[in-house]
Amino acid sequence: LSKITTTALANLKAEGEKIAMLTAYDYTFARLADQAGMEVLLVGDSVGMVFSGLENTLPVTLDQMIYHTQAVARGSKRALVVADMPFMTYQVSPQQALQNAGRLVQEGRAEAVKLEGGAAMAATISAIVTAGIPVMGHVGLTPQSVHAIGGFRVQGKGHDAAQAVLEDALAVQDAGAFALVLEGIPASLGQQITQQLTIPTIGIGAGADCDGQVLVMHDLLGLFDEFTPKFVKRYASVGETVEKAFREYQSEVKSSCFPQPQNCFKG
Ligand code: KIV
Ligand code: NA
Repeated sequence: LSKITTTALANLKAEGEKIAMLTAYDYTFARLADQAGMEVLLVGDSVGMVFSGLENTLPVTLDQMIYHTQAVARGSKRALVVADMPFMTYQVSPQQALQNAGRLVQEGRAEAVKLEGGAAMAATISAIVTAGIPVMGHVGLTPQSVHAIGGFRVQGKGHDAAQAVLEDALAVQDAGAFALVLEGIPASLGQQITQQLTIPTIGIGAGADCDGQVLVMHDLLGLFDEFTPKFVKRYASVGETVEKAFREYQSEVKSSCFPQPQNCFKG
């Protein structure tokens, strides 16, 4: 299986083959996801929630994203590694955005960056793409705007709101993005945008007709159970498995059942 590039993703859309994307934040899980055939590994700023225990993604820093991207890049042989640009690292100016995108690529070894926003981000996307860094867009529910939106709620409901998301999607494509994440929108709007765009759409809570799907690793594995959004499917109960193993180890230490002679060095 050959290395996944942005061109490879365009070809998958053309051939009608779905794109599988998953978040990753460290070497070990990046390796497993890569071996499982994921086309794209997203170092999401969701790292702030599932790794750091923050309430939202706003406090995540560029240095943190660089650190996690380095680890994921080491674990990925085939998958395209995309790094999220954190809040306030791309909103001030296209120049600042380009410099920070450059750090994610140069220091973090990302192969592309993702940033949130539609028409308002067109000049920024264009500046980064012009410098040779592929950009993935992200419209619909954009978690970095949680305070402006007033919570994590579905976007693009009703004709006018749907039209606004569609126009954002077209603006991101016209600015030169190679793919677009659609988050938290009605399935019918996900289908409409996917049909109208020539670049691949990757959905999370955007219905079955997107060109690909993305999930947060911890949600898929059942590692993060503080709340489970409707769009998540749990493929395992890894949290339970881990806690059971931890309990067994803890009690075997207490009861002196661990270590056994075979776990000990002879003199
Ligand atoms: O940060 C993240 O994990 C994301 C995906 C949910 C698209 O942006
Ligand atoms: Na994100």
